[in-house]
Amino acid sequence: IAAADVDALLARMTLDEKLGQLAQARGERNDTGPFVPAGSEADVRAGRVGSFLSVYGAETTRRLQRIAVEETRLGIPLLFADDVIHGFRTIFPVPIGEAASFDLAAAEAAARIAAIEATANGLHWTYAPMVDMARDPRWGRVVEGAGEDVELACRFAEARVRGFQGRSLSDPDAMLATAKHFVAYGDAEGGRDYDVADVSDRRLAEYYYPPFRDAIAAGAASVMVAFNEVNGVPMHANRDLLTGVLRGDWHFDGLIVSDYSGVRELVAHGVAANDEAAGILALEAGIDVDMVSGIYVNTLPGAARRGKVDVARIDAAVRRILSAKAVLGLFDDPYRNCNPARAKRQTLRPAHRAAARDLARKSMVLLQNEGNILPLSKALRSVAVIGPLADDRRSMLGSWAPTGVAGDAITPLEGVKAALGPRVKIFGAAGGDAALDAARGADAVVLCIGEHWDESGEARSRVALDLAPDQQAMADTILALEKPVAVVIFAGRPLTINTLAHRAPAILWAWYPGVEAGHALADILFGDVSPSGRLPMSFPRAVGQIPIHYDRRSTGRPASESERNSAKYVDAPWTPLYPFGHGLGYSPVRYAGLELSSERLASDGVLQVGFSVHNAGAHAVEEVVQLYLRDDVASTTRPLKALKRFARVALAPGETKPVRFTLGARDFALLDHDLRPVVEPGSFTLYVGGSSATELEAHFTIEGEGNRAI
Ligand code: IFM
Repeated sequence: IAAADVDALLARMTLDEKLGQLAQARGERNDTGPFVPAGSEADVRAGRVGSFLSVYGAETTRRLQRIAVEETRLGIPLLFADDVIHGFRTIFPVPIGEAASFDLAAAEAAARIAAIEATANGLHWTYAPMVDMARDPRWGRVVEGAGEDVELACRFAEARVRGFQGRSLSDPDAMLATAKHFVAYGDAEGGRDYDVADVSDRRLAEYYYPPFRDAIAAGAASVMVAFNEVNGVPMHANRDLLTGVLRGDWHFDGLIVSDYSGVRELVAHGVAANDEAAGILALEAGIDVDMVSGIYVNTLPGAARRGKVDVARIDAAVRRILSAKAVLGLFDDPYRNCNPARAKRQTLRPAHRAAARDLARKSMVLLQNEGNILPLSKALRSVAVIGPLADDRRSMLGSWAPTGVAGDAITPLEGVKAALGPRVKIFGAAGGDAALDAARGADAVVLCIGEHWDESGEARSRVALDLAPDQQAMADTILALEKPVAVVIFAGRPLTINTLAHRAPAILWAWYPGVEAGHALADILFGDVSPSGRLPMSFPRAVGQIPIHYDRRSTGRPASESERNSAKYVDAPWTPLYPFGHGLGYSPVRYAGLELSSERLASDGVLQVGFSVHNAGAHAVEEVVQLYLRDDVASTTRPLKALKRFARVALAPGETKPVRFTLGARDFALLDHDLRPVVEPGSFTLYVGGSSATELEAHFTIEGEGNRAI
């Protein structure tokens, strides 16, 4: 229906019906799938539900939709929402793993497949992409983001929004995407989930806002509010940021949804005395949809009748939810996602699994490979695949895979068996004497350790990031056998693996790879594919280095070995164990011939950058080429390096390829003292290479008299 029809519908609604539209009810899950709690159907019938969280399935959603459409006074269809984060049933690598692929097309394809499956199973709205920036791996939710770098995060945010929303939201396989959690959620003090964020306006504007702005520019239909407070105001009551920045400055006109019981949590934050006060604060701050707390639907009708709530604000929120339903075409076909035959056809298709395998391979990062332990030979007679994660199906999916099924996942043990066939003896064991015996009896060992899936994710903050002591001990024992050992680490965040890094020649960081984990892992271990993932976060040597990130400022006393009073530690190096962007392949790649189209350009000029990459080894590789800039002298301090461009380049053995990038004002700009984007004249250094510890550099100057606003 058109905008005019939305207004006409709104004019016919009672206050209670309006607040019912803003209420999101909750489904529950048990081992057999989602179900609707007792009382929910009656609530739908009474017009007290506008949308559901975590209710899916073509038949279940059809049943509820029928009640909404046929048994309520106005027949307004329901929206069904869920956390389709890295796949619906075909689970892809966790988002930080997807980001490690540096492959935007693959991430977009993954989100597209997730939407195809999710919409076939009744859903209309996903709570993804998570676009929270974070530099603190103690915070368990780094697993859901794109890492520490703002450029990488922005590009992934756009790609995922495009993937979920498809060509047009009116297409039946498109779903509403949600940029979450607005804002600075990843700034949580001490890495404790939900904790306070106290951030400068500059930090917000340079670091926390951009992925939201770019997700919105890519068309994201909704934004979810963060649980935390920012600068003293809980985000669920933060009118300045929700209505001022998001609605006002950025003209965002989509849905703003609370995070779960975030409206009620205003009481615990200590800014609302009771539920009603919390509801009023949240509504007036700008939150349209109240996820699960029930406060809007239960307390705001009374508050509005007593004149304590601006009814125009309620109307604006209702108009948005009705518009979202209209954009999806639900007034024309409320059952568009309720077809069991389509669900069967579209779920876990072989092509979807193939895409998951491709992205899983691209996400794995080879951290080190001394003595070329990897790839392992397929001619081995026996291999031990051991460790607590060697055959842990659920852990392959990682966190936030609520619609995934552990039974779909291929474990490392299964993947190695499938790759090597019956000719090779494969021993598996999780730990203890059995694992040691297996390792002793095998020609090579694949040791699978790391974090169990539920050690990373929401409310999974850690004070220490070491491997569990029993895992470190197991690694030490196995490495002492002096056979080829590939250590494979599954985890949702950087861990401090200093000790292991000194002892293990070969370490592959596998994140949580998804349903095709074992197949993808075997593809890499046995050399069918060269590893090509790159770290989207710097790996600290010790927790005390956190926050550690490559795009640091210089300080007035840059870290230096020789200078006593410099920005460093007395008890550890200041550098990370592995830098941002790091990752090896099976062939060395050489960079050469860096050339700029000009060494001087105007502030509205364009710079062409060219160089070549050469595969100097015997394996085909995909190199992730990276380009960084430093603004040498500026009116505000600038990062030592900031990623501006990246691309994957396939190189056959011995092959050389040219790489070209074009940079423009957006790349040269900074935020001036009033936080307005400008290009300042002055000199820049440009770096290229295969990680943030780049290989080549060149210099150029932007000429002109003063700053140019962009
Ligand atoms: O989408 C999530 C959010 O990221 C954390 N709290 C619950 C929401 C809905 O499941």
